[in-house]
Amino acid sequence: MTPKTSAAVCGMGHSMKRKEDPRFIRGQGRYVDDIQLPGMLYMDIVRSPYAHATIKAIDISQALKVPGVLAVITGQDLAKYNLHWMPTLMSDTQMVLPTDTVMYQSQEVAAVIATSRYAAADGVDAVEVDYEPLPVVVDPFKALEPGAPVLRTDKKGKTDNHIFHWEVGDRAGTERHFAAADVRVKQDIYLPRIHVASIETCGCIADFDKAMGKLTVYMTTQAPHAIRTVFALVAGHVGLSEERIRIVSPDLGGGFGGKVPVYPGYVIAVAASVLIGKPVKWIEDRMENLQADSFARDYHMTAELAARKDGTITGLRIKTIADHGYADAAANPSKFPAGLFSICTGSYDIKHAFTELDGVYTNKPPGGVAYRCSFRVTEAVHAIERITDVLALELKMDPAELRMKNFIPPEKFPYKSVLGWEYDSGNYAAALAKAMKLIGYADLRREQAEKRKRGELMGIGISSFTEIVGAGPSKDFDILGIKMFDSAEIRVHPTGKAIARFGTKSQGQGHETTYAQIVAEELGIPAQDIAVEEGDTDTAPYGLGTYASRSTPVAGAAGAMAARKIRDKARKIAAHLLEVAEEDLEWEPGKFSVKGAPQKAKTIQEIAFAAYTNHPQGMEAGLEATSYYDPPNLTFPFGSYICVVDIDRGTGMVKIRRFVAVDDCGNIINPMIVDGQIHGGLTMGMAPALLEEISYDEEGNIQGGSFMDYLVPTAMETPRWEVDKTVTPSPHHPLGAKGVGESATVGAPPAIVNAVVDALAHLGVRHIDIPITPEKVWTILKEKGVAE
Ligand code: CDP
Repeated sequence: MTPKTSAAVCGMGHSMKRKEDPRFIRGQGRYVDDIQLPGMLYMDIVRSPYAHATIKAIDISQALKVPGVLAVITGQDLAKYNLHWMPTLMSDTQMVLPTDTVMYQSQEVAAVIATSRYAAADGVDAVEVDYEPLPVVVDPFKALEPGAPVLRTDKKGKTDNHIFHWEVGDRAGTERHFAAADVRVKQDIYLPRIHVASIETCGCIADFDKAMGKLTVYMTTQAPHAIRTVFALVAGHVGLSEERIRIVSPDLGGGFGGKVPVYPGYVIAVAASVLIGKPVKWIEDRMENLQADSFARDYHMTAELAARKDGTITGLRIKTIADHGYADAAANPSKFPAGLFSICTGSYDIKHAFTELDGVYTNKPPGGVAYRCSFRVTEAVHAIERITDVLALELKMDPAELRMKNFIPPEKFPYKSVLGWEYDSGNYAAALAKAMKLIGYADLRREQAEKRKRGELMGIGISSFTEIVGAGPSKDFDILGIKMFDSAEIRVHPTGKAIARFGTKSQGQGHETTYAQIVAEELGIPAQDIAVEEGDTDTAPYGLGTYASRSTPVAGAAGAMAARKIRDKARKIAAHLLEVAEEDLEWEPGKFSVKGAPQKAKTIQEIAFAAYTNHPQGMEAGLEATSYYDPPNLTFPFGSYICVVDIDRGTGMVKIRRFVAVDDCGNIINPMIVDGQIHGGLTMGMAPALLEEISYDEEGNIQGGSFMDYLVPTAMETPRWEVDKTVTPSPHHPLGAKGVGESATVGAPPAIVNAVVDALAHLGVRHIDIPITPEKVWTILKEKGVAE
């Protein structure tokens, strides 16, 4: 797309350098832990070593003797104010601090408040808790068996560990269709628990000003406004009404969905500050972050496809058991207990589909969050892209040919999927064709055939995914009843510079740059002259925050709409200044000129000055506007990824030799930032495919609870990503843009798994669950008698 604006204005399509980067790369970012307030106290948390136990007693006497320790807060203390329980985002309930039972290892048990971080940690060591272990349930299938210990005894009348059942599609019709199908394939697929592991852990400073009766919380949150409302709803009864609460989300060191939920630590810090009347800082350490914060995935799926012998896919069925841990604290829109999993028909024109899911309680931390994915889309894409390859194997068809045969054709858009979504636009075959050309698909298949003859293991994997981002249209999307619109407020100052504030919150995605570019595109004010602010609920307009790639589809659209309102007013002022009728003016980025007399013109800067100095009689002064944008639909970005792997027969090590990613996110605001999003996303997609997993032993002890054994990828493990684009604009977004932040995390894992399975398919391998560790591969090679 050729940019409409000059390089000086830097609207859409310019790879403008990120405005926020100078402060980040100089170490001058302002994160929560950088903030120091006068008289600030520190909080540290006592955590349970048991996954399930009764608390017989908590002895705080020794802790209170530690120099610097001022208080120890227990569940009994919070119970006096009815603050020991809180609602989760999915309307379940969760303990803030327990009064009698702990439900997972690392659960918060008590909090120590002290004059220094060190004293707080010493205090934690000195708290003595007497536990009596209870039977532990870690396996969600066993949790559903009759006679399994019932975990949520706090819920009156609860007799099992089942949380909810959810289903979409035509069960009976799909069953009938499967029974009559030519070809059927079925595969169990497990996506294990993983963690967002952002560089910055979670934390806050709760600062209650007794004189003003106002609470300010500096907090690692992706959704400051929603948090303010939730705090007011939970703590309104103790005087914290919403006008007295200010949430400030400063620079965030990554969020990826992990900074959407309210964790007990935030609530305890707030309670401590209100009780003590001083600011209280709580910052998790790395192990607390990995062990106790919300997890992602943990879906046990059984996927089935029905097809004709020629490879036409006709039916899809997926049954899932979702392990939510001790509480359903998923960060989903309220009406979607399984998120947007029903996008699982993917890029294919499938006539019969049905999916069902059961949520289950176990003795693990509650969740799960949408880790860099729009509410369970990663799971859905993994299921459809894996089972498609299983079908290709069954039919002895090339997986690229099978996909090409079944893609929704471009002329069918907007496309209504059988599971209820209306895809806005797409051209899937073009993206796959481009990826195949870039990687040299036919040559690679020839090379593979030759290598196979020599016993070498090489695989090629494809993933042609469809995403669903931009939650969302308020008729369907809300969180705890709050509709999922988003907002922008723009003020153009007299000197022609501007400030734009948004209801979202960047965690590293570059909003200060791209939002400025959106406003620059619409008003012709140089992006450098537009300050962007997010994250302070006292100043930014109300919005639902940043996750699920919703910033560009929703808040970005609000930015464009607010700018257009300003342009409408600017036109009136220009007509007044040029003494012509509004209809006689034409707009080009940055100025209005008189039709047929282009020398008679007023720049946006001249108009801005006039808005405060020489505006028409009867018009209000100023040049500002606000937009609350309620999108008519979600956006459906897509892409085709092709991965080439070589497998070492001596070690089972999988080496990604090449990885081509062709993405389509509609019109692009900043191509460099989009490439950065794809690069980062691909690395975060490779991570669970090859490295990351959090598992538990029979007693609920966490395995993978530190970076010693939870393997996050570094530059060393990351291959050179080859990225390219196709551009299919969204027909309903004001700028034709779709979200992009999560595409690569969603699309990459099945491409990698498909490549590994493809390398081993001739040995009879059909599926491998992630993470595909060298040990797992080596065990298969040994079984098949090909290990070196
Ligand atoms: O909600 P989040 O910011 O995570 O996701 P997003 O809307 O997909 O945007 C991620 C980054 O890519 C932002 O800086 C966007 O403005 C930018 N982007 C873009 O430049 N062009 C697009 N079509 C989509 C996103």
